[in-house]
Amino acid sequence: MVNLKTYPSAVGDGALRIGRALERSAARRGVSAAIAPAAPDLSLLARSLQIPVLAQHVDPVDDGARTGHIPPSTLRALGVAGSLVNHSENPAPLSTIRDLVSRLRVGGMTSIVCARTVAEAARIATCHPPYVAIEPPELIGGTISVSTARPGLIAESVRAVRRVAPRTVVLCGAGVQGTEDVARALALGAGGILVASAVARAASPARALAELLDGFPARWSRTR
Ligand code: G3P
Repeated sequence: MVNLKTYPSAVGDGALRIGRALERSAARRGVSAAIAPAAPDLSLLARSLQIPVLAQHVDPVDDGARTGHIPPSTLRALGVAGSLVNHSENPAPLSTIRDLVSRLRVGGMTSIVCARTVAEAARIATCHPPYVAIEPPELIGGTISVSTARPGLIAESVRAVRRVAPRTVVLCGAGVQGTEDVARALALGAGGILVASAVARAASPARALAELLDGFPARWSRTR
């Protein structure tokens, strides 16, 4: 799962180039992939790509007279497959997370709910989202990956989430850079990774993606 955030090189045409590179390399390896562009690029990418396009943020509101909001039904109308929820750069209270997971599910969309700690991951698991992504904020945007610096956090989160929500897939992210980081995360029980800067800020996003995808066994798919 590639989150483009609002890195200047990864908006507009840049977002589309990265999306196409991800689609190509993921298809070559048979690995399931998805992308979360900045909100203004959602429509363009959802129309142009075959892989799922997710929003980085969604609001717990109905559509209509809602200036500046992103209602779940608007995402669905644009062909968007779901949304990140509770990213540490845009956190939400548990009651809102529960509401959003439910609204997205009712709309036939997926949710990837981020958690900073094992305890938060366990609380979020009570909402039974399709995905929980464990991301320690202090490692986000850095070069030391969560799977190297905090292996216990991944393994414990996987156990804690499974106890409450056995069907929820646990992803992990923060500082993920290359093949080894990915392979280590999967060996610790993660179902996939959430990555941003290693791709969005790379001189060659295509090369960065190829290195990340090399960490997955061929035909790796943990989608819900
Ligand atoms: O959403 C992905 C994320 O927060 C990890 O960011 O830059 O450490 O890969 P990064």
